Amino acid sequence: MTGAMGSAASRRRFLHLLAGSPLFAAGAGDGAVLSDLKDALNVLEFEDAARKAIPPAHFGYLSTGVDGDATLRANREALARIQLRPRRLIDVSTVDTSVDLLGTKWDTPILLAPVANQGAFHAEGEAGVARAAKQKRTLQILSTFSSYSVEQVNREGGRPVWFQLYPTSSLTVAERVVQRAEAAGCPVLVLTTDIPAGRNPETQKRFERLDKRRCSSCHGDSMPASSFRRPIFKGLDVAGLVPYNATLTWGYVDRLRRMTKMKLVLKGIVTREDARLCREHGVDAIVVSNHGGRAEETGRATIESLSEVLDGAGSTLPVLIDGGFRRGTDIFKALALGARAVAIGRPYVWGLGAFGQAGVEKIIDLLQAEFRLIMQQCGARSLAEITRQSVTGL
Ligand code: GLV
Repeated sequence: MTGAMGSAASRRRFLHLLAGSPLFAAGAGDGAVLSDLKDALNVLEFEDAARKAIPPAHFGYLSTGVDGDATLRANREALARIQLRPRRLIDVSTVDTSVDLLGTKWDTPILLAPVANQGAFHAEGEAGVARAAKQKRTLQILSTFSSYSVEQVNREGGRPVWFQLYPTSSLTVAERVVQRAEAAGCPVLVLTTDIPAGRNPETQKRFERLDKRRCSSCHGDSMPASSFRRPIFKGLDVAGLVPYNATLTWGYVDRLRRMTKMKLVLKGIVTREDARLCREHGVDAIVVSNHGGRAEETGRATIESLSEVLDGAGSTLPVLIDGGFRRGTDIFKALALGARAVAIGRPYVWGLGAFGQAGVEKIIDLLQAEFRLIMQQCGARSLAEITRQSVTGL
């Protein structure tokens, strides 16, 4: 008894000491939530700031994976296992981070993944993100379920976004959505392929219990259903539709090809077999994605799927990736393993949720600065000089 109490007391003393230690205080784990953009050290710090700013149910929607969130965690864990092989004594005074994506040159291989319903995170929503993307000359991919119209987002961004397509359960509706995106000038259509019939977002449901507000006072019914009130569906008959389409097949991809002159990207590809089919069906690029761990619970990280997708895609099809990228070193690792570019999702929405457009800009700045610095550390002066030899451990 005395021994047990003694060990509890010494444990308390240890925790107390730890809490006061500068080691513990360094980084986002010190309990202080980021409140001024000037103080931001890295993008991870924005998660708590966003949690504070966003209503719990909406934060849960952003954070959730599926089932036990194992795939969500796997994305980060696999990136952490990869190590870098820095090269020395190379003049890295000039570094070029530019990349060509389907015929357009961008200053950075870091791009903004489609995230739905951004008005739920900040009133500026996708329009604010578009202004940030314009400032930072970064590619924005706009979700079908954007809270702002594609036309407005294109105006705010100064150039048309790539448009992500949720096929919905109606081909007619999908066709009208595609026509509208094309008429708005979007050069690229990004078809999400990874959720045919729904999902089990347990973390989202847990957060919803914390929210005392009723959805009906804010946006009607729960988020996926209310998504059909988004501007892109104005004037369309969406009664009874769901965002997904369980009949989605390669025949649908061929139809889309015939339906539009936009370039076609398939998002959600994680196997060699499907990458090969992308090539056979004339797809223009692939995004290796498990939907930020919110499609199915495979437990496999996107970075672990990358090499087989590259193998199936062959040498001509650009392969992009998303899923858990939070550091410049993560982005460097993906490029070293063969990705053309890396999309970030939750980080820029944390920035948006906590600080609006300025937060998104800061997220891009932080990641770009980290990325540029690690290129210099590893002796890479251009993206072409980031090679398989730059990494080890996967
Ligand atoms: C939208 O793409 C979502 O994952 O909710």
